[in-house]
Amino acid sequence: MKVLRTPGEMHDLREWFRDQPETVGLVPTMGYLHEGHNSLLKAAREENGFVVMSLFVNPTQFKAGEDLSTYPRDEERDLVIAESSGVDFIYAPAPDDIYPSGFATKVEVEGLTEVLCGSETSRGPGHFAGVTTIVAKLLNAVDPDVAYFGQKDAQQATVIRRMAEDLEFRTRIVILPTVRERDGLAMSSRNAYLSPESRERATAIWSSLLETESVFAEQGLDAALDAGRRHLELAGITPEYFEARYPGTLDPADGNGTDPVLVAVAANVDGTRLIDNILIEPSSTHRRTK
Ligand code: PAJ
Repeated sequence: MKVLRTPGEMHDLREWFRDQPETVGLVPTMGYLHEGHNSLLKAAREENGFVVMSLFVNPTQFKAGEDLSTYPRDEERDLVIAESSGVDFIYAPAPDDIYPSGFATKVEVEGLTEVLCGSETSRGPGHFAGVTTIVAKLLNAVDPDVAYFGQKDAQQATVIRRMAEDLEFRTRIVILPTVRERDGLAMSSRNAYLSPESRERATAIWSSLLETESVFAEQGLDAALDAGRRHLELAGITPEYFEARYPGTLDPADGNGTDPVLVAVAANVDGTRLIDNILIEPSSTHRRTK
C-alpha cells in the first residue's frame, strides 16, 4: 500500500491509471475507520483492479462551533486497517494543499441541501457545499471508475449522486447499506464520543426507526412518525429532526403511494450529534386505508 500526501502525487498516479486496463475504485473517508468504512473498502476491492481510499478530515464541511478540532483521528490505525482491507493507495493530503491560499471555488447543489441536515436549524447548506466541493475535487484528482458511499449518510448520498450527474462526472456512484453494531446503532466515527450510558441511550435511535416502520405498515405514515418520535422522547432524546422524505428528491413524503419512503433522524445524544435513517417500502396490502 502506498501513501500519497500531495495533489501532485495523486495526479501522477491518475496519469498512470489511465494506461492501465484495470478499473479504479475510490472510497472517500475522513478516517477513524470502522466496519461501515470497511464494507465500502471490501466492495471496492472486489469490484476493481485498484482501490484508492482518501483520508481527509475536510474542514469546509464543519460549521463554526462543530467538532472539527476534536474529530477523532488515528492515522496509524487507519493505515493498518486500510492495508488489511486491500487498499492499494491512500490519498491523505494536507488541508493547505487542498485549500491553498486563493482557493475560491464552491460546488453547491441547490434544494436538496436545504432540508434535513441542510436546514438552518441543523448543520446548514454550507455543510453540503463543503462535502460536494471536496468530493468534486477528489473525483477530479483520482478520476475513479467507481466511487463508494454509505446509505448511513442518506442525504449526502442523494446530494453526491445529483452533483455527479449534473456535472457529468464519468464516475459511477455506488451507495451501500448501513453497517450497524449488534444492538442496531449505526456505526459512526462519532460513536467514540459516547460514554457507556450515552451509548446505551443511543440505541433508541435505531429502535425508533424500526418502530416507525412497523407502525407505518399498520396505521400509515403520520401515526408512524408520531410513534417514532415518542419512542425517542421516552429514551430522553429530543430529535433535531425526525422526518419522512422521498429519497431521490428529498421532498416531504405522504407515504400514500408505492414509492419507498426515507425516514431520517438527527439527534443530539448527551452532546454527540448522531444521524440514522431507514428506507421503508410501503406494502399497500398491509396498510389500512385511511
Ligand atoms: P466519513 O464520515 O468518514 O464516511 C465515509 C463514508 O463511509 C461515507 O460514504 C459514509 O456514508 C460511509 N459510512 C459511514 N458510516 C457508515 C456505516 N455505518 N455504514 C455504511 N457506510 C458508512 O462521509 C464522510 O466521511 C465525508 O462527508 C466525505 C464523503 C468523506 C467527504 O468529506
